[in-house]
Amino acid sequence: MRLLSPVPLALLASTASAQLGNFEVQPNTWNSSLSLSTQHIQDALLTDEIAKSVAVVTNSDRSQLAYGGPSEDEFYTLPLLTNSTGPLQPGVVLKTQLVTDTSGFSIPPNTALSRFMYTTTTFNGTVVPATAFVLWPFEPRHFGHTNSSRVAAPTVLWTHGTSGFHSDAAPSAMRHLWYGFSAPFTLAQDGYAVVGPDYAGLGIDKSWDGSHIAHQWDVAQVGARDALHALQAAWNAFPGKLTKEFVSMGHSQGGGVAWGVAERLALSVDEFPDKTFGGYKGAVAVSPVVDVFGVSPAFISNFVGIAMSSIFPDFTLDLWLTPLGMARNKLWTSIKGGVGAAQQLFLAAEVTRENYIEQSWHGAAFEKLANPGRKDFKGPLLVLQGTEDIYVPFDGVKSAVEDTCGLFPEHDLDFLIVNGTGHVPTLDATRPRWLRWIQDRFEGKPVRQTGCSTSHLKSWLPHAQYLAVGGSVIQWVADPKFSYQAILGP
Ligand SMILES: *[C@@H]1O[C@H](CO)[C@@H](O)[C@H](O)[C@H]1NC(C)=O
Ligand SMILES: *[C@@H]1O[C@H](CO)[C@@H](O)[C@H](O)[C@H]1NC(C)=O
Ligand SMILES: *[C@@H]1O[C@H](CO)[C@@H](O)[C@H](O)[C@H]1NC(C)=O
Ligand SMILES: *[C@@H]1O[C@H](CO)[C@@H](O)[C@H](O)[C@H]1NC(C)=O
Ligand SMILES: *[C@@H]1O[C@H](CO)[C@@H](O)[C@H](O)[C@H]1NC(C)=O
Repeated sequence: MRLLSPVPLALLASTASAQLGNFEVQPNTWNSSLSLSTQHIQDALLTDEIAKSVAVVTNSDRSQLAYGGPSEDEFYTLPLLTNSTGPLQPGVVLKTQLVTDTSGFSIPPNTALSRFMYTTTTFNGTVVPATAFVLWPFEPRHFGHTNSSRVAAPTVLWTHGTSGFHSDAAPSAMRHLWYGFSAPFTLAQDGYAVVGPDYAGLGIDKSWDGSHIAHQWDVAQVGARDALHALQAAWNAFPGKLTKEFVSMGHSQGGGVAWGVAERLALSVDEFPDKTFGGYKGAVAVSPVVDVFGVSPAFISNFVGIAMSSIFPDFTLDLWLTPLGMARNKLWTSIKGGVGAAQQLFLAAEVTRENYIEQSWHGAAFEKLANPGRKDFKGPLLVLQGTEDIYVPFDGVKSAVEDTCGLFPEHDLDFLIVNGTGHVPTLDATRPRWLRWIQDRFEGKPVRQTGCSTSHLKSWLPHAQYLAVGGSVIQWVADPKFSYQAILGP
């Protein structure tokens, strides 16, 4: 408010609407008004308190969606299929929104946003549509040796962590692109173009024939296909704007996907027809999920369970969930609930059958195909992991790294253990490290140490002095009527 005090009131009044925003009475509500019906509450055996909480977290989630999100925003409407003759191919652009109207987003000033729709494949190879964003830098970084660097921006393929499970949960629809300054904003402000795929099932959940597209959560290889198909489509959607050189980077579910990209590119399968991934420079996997069943059964049985029959057609959810779990899962799905709603509905209730993974063969089979690690991969790979991560336990990542190193000691894998950091905050603590690592790859520098290496990072000041978890939510301020929130505005 430094501007306001010295300005005479009369002048203020005359220029107010033009220059100083809008003086309408401001709302203090969510941009969404879900409340659960009596039927919902009875069917899912909710207390009034939980019912209220589920509504609050869901209204909060929905309020983070620009233009009402995938169910209302025209961008997510699937174009008619023009291929009546040729077979559908993955990695094809279906729609390009060259300039996304960012008035509904909370991205940093002087970044620009595009979105596109592309084809990818589900676990069983079915071609389905999906969506993605590109966040553009104001000035691309230039790397001398890169042939295309004068015209194209260096590309980071950003694979996001769990944003949700249903069509509302598309980072490309979220005002802060889901990770905000934890990665995509930071990368764009550092001069990279950030290609951010929404995984299949997030954004668009109905294919051309009307069939449901399940989000096959946490299957690293499926996410890796989405990522690489999105990148291939992005190159065609924005010709000359994205370098063929790219680094893949992701966090959590997406850390597993970034690792999965490294594994996919080590396979000699004929999956990616035009084989344009020669510009791959390496992958950064931050807090990667390497052990899908490693945490909270109440979460995982629901998160994995809802897409399981799209992978194993004979699977039924009641193998894993109790009748109460089934009822709550149904409610959760019907409101397209996210992680917050899942916490309210599942964590403090008997929703999961005991030893659910052992109820049938599906659990073990899923685990085998879902987890990255212990497989051949194309290096270099940087793995960053905090010791105080409650979602992705440190020990699990450590043993996945050690086993992978044991199998492929000649591959470049750099494991950085960060003492005292949690799940997402590890990204913040290590920002200078990963920015430097990405820069080095584009500059063609050799890795710090070849083969497998482990190093440690500790906080500079005593750890107890640091804020462990960020406390604020990015709300949107771009709409002029919310300009009072933009305290660092024009
Ligand atoms: C608020 O939500 C409504 C209804 O979902 C939507 O149409 C509108 O675009 C949203 N407003 C903003 C600023 O995103
Ligand atoms: C449609 O078919 C043509 C020819 O087979 C192919 O090049 C193109 O990629 C296909 N489009 C889609 C969306 O699969
Ligand atoms: C740069 O790329 C262009 C087009 O791909 C190619 O014709 C040219 O030989 C390349 N130049 C160098 C120095 O590699
Ligand atoms: C693949 O999965 C989809 C969706 O579950 C299903 O409709 C389709 O029949 C499956 N195709 C094959 C070849 O298994
Ligand atoms: C983290 O730092 C503390 C204090 O220096 C030390 O006791 C602990 O062993 C460290 N943990 C790891 C996993 O390095």
